[in-house]
Amino acid sequence: MNLIFLGPPGAGKGTQARLLQARRGIPQVSTGDILREAIARETELGRKAREYVERGDLVPDEVMVGIIVERLAKPDTQEGFILDGFPRTVAQAQALEELLASLGRRITAVIYFDLPEEKIVQRLSGRLICARCGAIYHVDHHPPRKPETCDLCGGPLYRRSDDLPEVVRKRLQVYREETEPLVAFYRKRELLHVLDASQGVEALYQSILRIAGASSGNEEGEAEARADR
Ligand code: AP5
Repeated sequence: MNLIFLGPPGAGKGTQARLLQARRGIPQVSTGDILREAIARETELGRKAREYVERGDLVPDEVMVGIIVERLAKPDTQEGFILDGFPRTVAQAQALEELLASLGRRITAVIYFDLPEEKIVQRLSGRLICARCGAIYHVDHHPPRKPETCDLCGGPLYRRSDDLPEVVRKRLQVYREETEPLVAFYRKRELLHVLDASQGVEALYQSILRIAGASSGNEEGEAEARADR
């Protein structure tokens, strides 16, 4: 099961990828998480990426493709993966196609998280992240049990610096210009599945399981989704 989660910032891609990883063991490959970790550790990649991420711009394609080449060479992705936040430009999508072809693999489905802009802003303005394990919360939709503390690991929660309103505006503009063309790119390849991302977390998860099961030729996709309820 090789999936791409595509959609605007804050649509819920990370939340669903983490769920699928936790419940089904399919590794989440989040380019945003990889970059944030590199920035926090002040590695060479982190130093290169910091200014782009903080401005809400995309990190250059060659850097991002290099990250994916390295990540998909690791053994845990051989049985499947969820690409969360990659590709984000047509050039990245083309590079991914070439890479997978050279490995004798292919994308099984691209899941597009469709969410109107006012909901995006609402979700990002209330998002909290665990600094230790990366768990995702929301002040209203999914608050932690204890203020500012992760339910899962007890780590401190923080707000991402790129969730500030002016950076969110920039990210949305970049998304429309650079990433939205991928909808047509994957529709043409008959890989695109559009989901209404305004549904609740569990309802969305069930829809993803059905799509993923059916797309990977697993006729039990529906049954899997039922069993998971
Ligand atoms: P990245 O981290 O990938 O950010 P993004 O794609 O903008 O997506 P987000 O992480 O903001 O949102 P999400 O869709 O995962 O939503 P979430 O589940 O958290 O990228 C960050 C930056 O890194 C980029 O701007 C760029 O600079 C750089 N970068 C990364 N990849 C790159 C690439 N390939 N090329 C170049 N540059 C790259 O949910 C959001 C909130 O909503 C949370 O509070 C959550 O609790 C809540 N929520 C989730 N689902 C629901 C629901 N169903 N109902 C109600 N609330 C919900």
